[in-house]
Amino acid sequence: MNSVADILLDWYAREGRDLPWRRTRDPYRIWLSEVILQQTRVAQGTEYYLRFTERFPDVASLAAAPEDEVLKLWQGLGYYSRARNLHAAARQVVERFGGRFPVALEEVRSLRGVGDYTAAAICSAAYDAPCAVVDGNVYRVLARLFDLDAPIDSTAGKRAFAELAQSQLDTAHPGRYNQAIMDFGALRCTPSSPRCEACPLAGQCLALAAGTVAARPVKQGKTRVRDRWFNYLHVSSGDRTLLHRREGRDIWQGLYEFPLIETEEPAELPELVRLPQFRELLGDAPWHLVRSIPLPKHQLSHQTLHAVVHRIETLSLTPAAAAMAVPTAALGDYAVPRLIDRYLIKYQI
Ligand code: ADE
Repeated sequence: MNSVADILLDWYAREGRDLPWRRTRDPYRIWLSEVILQQTRVAQGTEYYLRFTERFPDVASLAAAPEDEVLKLWQGLGYYSRARNLHAAARQVVERFGGRFPVALEEVRSLRGVGDYTAAAICSAAYDAPCAVVDGNVYRVLARLFDLDAPIDSTAGKRAFAELAQSQLDTAHPGRYNQAIMDFGALRCTPSSPRCEACPLAGQCLALAAGTVAARPVKQGKTRVRDRWFNYLHVSSGDRTLLHRREGRDIWQGLYEFPLIETEEPAELPELVRLPQFRELLGDAPWHLVRSIPLPKHQLSHQTLHAVVHRIETLSLTPAAAAMAVPTAALGDYAVPRLIDRYLIKYQI
């Protein structure tokens, strides 16, 4: 008894949790438990699992229920798209599979709200299909056992872990093995202060030997939020306003905005005036600043935008500017970023 799988199965037989969805091979109930547990702790999830299986003992009764009732029963669990997907998937099972929960991994994977992890969890637990599950617990156990430093939040890392997990799977008992490694991660190989000295896998654990347990798994981490300074030139001449379409691979591709001068730091108008972009746009004709309006800070997932609109009027347009001019009355016809839209609404432009 010295393979990793044997040790995990032996540990699981002694210390694994007795949970209601582990006492059934009904794919419907196992699916239900996995969807509930996607973003929910076991203690709270168990209560909801029991509530759902009592009210909806099979997939047909869930499919036949009004969505409102499913959402009501879900109340308190959060992430309501899970409940809507659950209900939609029950209807898919009835409509596409005649009410019989599918068996093939790909068919299970095709149900609404079912991803790679959930499909593998259902098919292994219900049918003993040889598919390894990879959840947060499995990442941690495997990263430590093999001292693997591939970041689990990178595409290459995910692939490496998926392959490693599959290679470790006990194909004689895939269902039990998957539950065992997940429970081992949840209960023994915990994120902080795992008791390695008393671990049944201490003899096999490469991270323990290398002293890297606390550093596994590796996460690339969130890419740092970047600050950007957008200086917009809201230039009008008569009844025309300059508008520019964003191209390239940056944010807001295809949307319209005022001509933009982006700077590395906050910049005042006199600095902007000296830049070639400004001269190209406004040339030598007289212009005057109506006012400069700082917009509220705009937060994107990885960028903080600090935008200022300089509202400028000019008597004539350079050729470069004329090519961008649109009737001011038609500004509302253009798709603009939310930050510009709010500005146009606020100042009734
Ligand atoms: N979390 C997700 N799936 C689980 C399962 N089958 N048992 C315990 N916790 C889980």
